[in-house]
Amino acid sequence: MLSLPSLLTARVQDAAGIDPEMRPATKPQFGHFQSNVALRLAKQEGRPPREVAQDLVDRIDVSDLCEPLEVAGPGFINFRIKADVLARVATELLADPNTGIDVTDRPDKIVIDYSAPNVAKPMHVGNLRSTIIGDCFNRVLTAQGNRVKPQNHIGDWGTQFGMLVEQILFEGADATQMTLDDSVALYRRAQAHFKSDEGFADAARHRVVALQSGDPQTREIWQALIEVSKRGFNETYERLGVRLTDDDLAGESTYNDDLPLVVADLVDRGIAVRDKGALCVFVEGFETPLIVQKSDGGYGYATTDLAAIRHRVSDLGANRIIYVVGSPQAYHFEQVFAVARMAGYLPDGVRAEHVGFGSVLGKDGHMLRTREGGTVTLQSLLDTAEEVADRPVAMAAVKYADLSNSLHKDYVFDVERMTATTGNTGPYLQYAHARASRILRNAEEQGIEWTPQVTVLDEPAEQTLALLLSRYGEIVAEVGENLQPHKLCGYLYDLATAMSVFYEQCPVLKSDGEVRSSRLALCAATKKVLASGLDLLGIVAPERM
Ligand code: ARG
Repeated sequence: MLSLPSLLTARVQDAAGIDPEMRPATKPQFGHFQSNVALRLAKQEGRPPREVAQDLVDRIDVSDLCEPLEVAGPGFINFRIKADVLARVATELLADPNTGIDVTDRPDKIVIDYSAPNVAKPMHVGNLRSTIIGDCFNRVLTAQGNRVKPQNHIGDWGTQFGMLVEQILFEGADATQMTLDDSVALYRRAQAHFKSDEGFADAARHRVVALQSGDPQTREIWQALIEVSKRGFNETYERLGVRLTDDDLAGESTYNDDLPLVVADLVDRGIAVRDKGALCVFVEGFETPLIVQKSDGGYGYATTDLAAIRHRVSDLGANRIIYVVGSPQAYHFEQVFAVARMAGYLPDGVRAEHVGFGSVLGKDGHMLRTREGGTVTLQSLLDTAEEVADRPVAMAAVKYADLSNSLHKDYVFDVERMTATTGNTGPYLQYAHARASRILRNAEEQGIEWTPQVTVLDEPAEQTLALLLSRYGEIVAEVGENLQPHKLCGYLYDLATAMSVFYEQCPVLKSDGEVRSSRLALCAATKKVLASGLDLLGIVAPERM
């Protein structure tokens, strides 16, 4: 597909010799794109900027794409795309099975580490954000033709399982018959028991050893607990409509056998050294060392992540690894990546990125808490949204609220605002899609014939809409590169707004002839981009609302 900004950029760069940094025009009277390249060149050359701009305008060869160029203000160059070029792009978009998204011929192998809830604990809002954001990346990067392998790094290992298994044996409970809620309640009883009963605490500690050394009965109960949690996680994934499946599960326990090998390797190569009994890796620029083996011989979260990186690169063949985990773990990942680089588990050509995100706040502006002060479960959060809207709309509201702010920001979980059908919300975009669908449906019911070609773009509202449509591919490419879903949200919101201006100003069904056909095609192209964009956000695009 023809990408207008990149075409323009290339042509202007030819004439100017430097990157023109094309920007969308700030006002319609400035055309469609703007560049300040002349101002920058003028500074370098010590010449009047308007003169440099005029020189450039005389040399830039874009007459096939643009109306005659204009020099504005102190020396900006304004570009207005010809209506027939915009029309052609909109028509191409309508015919393109990829909706203008560039599909790479050099696919990356991308591991996305997302969701990652902990076994026998309810999923919380942090898991919610990771699940929604990671799933969006999965969809975007897959649409670009990459090979994406999600890895759900669930917390299925650790000393807490000694306590849990011991409590099950103590109660004579049948782990296979539990629900996720049962196992959460069990966790609480086990914790209380552990604190109050020295004998039980001792037994729980021995149980950890039994679990680690593979004692069959212990392992069986542990496995049953994982199954219980998995069922609970899958219910939530289904409810949210995210793409994670059992195939993507690779919990912490996956790496158990690798941990001693990784540590031995780090020791052999002098990367890990003994410090106060523990095996540590000191990394320049970090205040604390990364502990790869505790003095009691145990391995922790960080060692598991090192083993996971090694596996992802050498066994899964990843050349890009994306971790979608809350911002408080930023330091952990920076340090793990640094150690993995030192050890060669993360070779130069492999990108590793931690995409952090902020917290979800209550309406009072504080961390979301239950009335009793406990952590809010994901289940109850989704329930509140489903109280005010049907599932597809409720999930759209929740997901869009999560994706539409820049990720590092905290945001307020405000169900009324999120589910509103006006303003920058998921339901508003769904509504825009339903509206475009309705027009096309009405045309069909009225027997109106039209060809899938945009041919007339005389009205400014039509041009604005077509121009936005032409930018879709570029926006998706940017999200795939920089991993900022709010850019896509902002774009779709602008598109929906431009569509509603178009409806106000340009009658569709009430016009006739070629204009009507062209406007129907423009509606169809808009519907197509909205559907594609919503799908990349993991949001259902309804035909009716
Ligand atoms: N289970 C962890 C938590 O709830 C998140 C795991 C993230 N992934 C990773 N590879 N460390 O905090």
